[in-house]
Amino acid sequence: MTETRRLTIDGIRAMKGAEPIVMVTAYDFSTAQVAEDAGVDLVLVGDSAAMVVLGHETTRLVTLDEMLMLTRAARRGAPSSLLIGDLPYQSYETSNDLAVSTARRFTEAGCDAVKMEGAGPTVDRARAVIAAGIPVMGHVGLTPQKTGEREGFRVHGKTAEAALEIIAAAQALDAAGCFSIVAEAMPAAVARALTPRIRAPIIGIGAGSDTDGQVLVFHDLVGLYDEHVPRYVRRYAEVKAVMTDAVARYAADVRGRRFPGPEHEYRMESAEIEKLKGLLARL
Ligand code: KIV
Repeated sequence: MTETRRLTIDGIRAMKGAEPIVMVTAYDFSTAQVAEDAGVDLVLVGDSAAMVVLGHETTRLVTLDEMLMLTRAARRGAPSSLLIGDLPYQSYETSNDLAVSTARRFTEAGCDAVKMEGAGPTVDRARAVIAAGIPVMGHVGLTPQKTGEREGFRVHGKTAEAALEIIAAAQALDAAGCFSIVAEAMPAAVARALTPRIRAPIIGIGAGSDTDGQVLVFHDLVGLYDEHVPRYVRRYAEVKAVMTDAVARYAADVRGRRFPGPEHEYRMESAEIEKLKGLLARL
């Protein structure tokens, strides 16, 4: 178990250019506890929960109430971590007031900051949330809430013009005061051009190694979700196989009457057993 560093938002900013930032998603008590015990810098309650926890096809389908429930559980598991809540689809886009009130619900649920996707109108929403005192993480490149289809999960910024759009989006979020920005699914050359042009740390996912940090989805990293594994994922374990094997062995033990064993039983004093027998005989 690694000692947990109590980082602050300013501490994350200060890591730019100094040391790589490590972020991982977590969605409940147990995954957040693992993230905190492993000593990551940031824990994101991502809307990827829609897919890896709730089994939907896209991130659009997780509701605000579901995200808040997962956030509260994650905070219980990671009491000392910097916890970021991902504002779900349609919970912030249409007005600054909506964005601020949704962000407040995430801080009430235990978050230190929130993340929102895209630029355009999101820049104004981010500025309003930051003005309300809640730190915001931006998200450029592939922004999964924009696509209702899993097939829409593709690399962005493959032409020079598209790359410039990503850089402009990140610059706008940087100017709005975002404390860090996720850069998802883009050529490494684009992230390499982007990172030094932005004051806020750039946290990459599928954006190569020249960013200020990396984020992976918990279930991808540990090998618990295999519906769709993007090429940028490195699997550090095959937990689904371990879990399936464990449950299959449990089932075989129950069916073969090898579980539970005497070591799993609660004991009763023999005098009480005799007394019980006597009581039963009188029924
Ligand atoms: O929801 C999520 O997991 C994310 C990460 C991929 C950054 O947004």
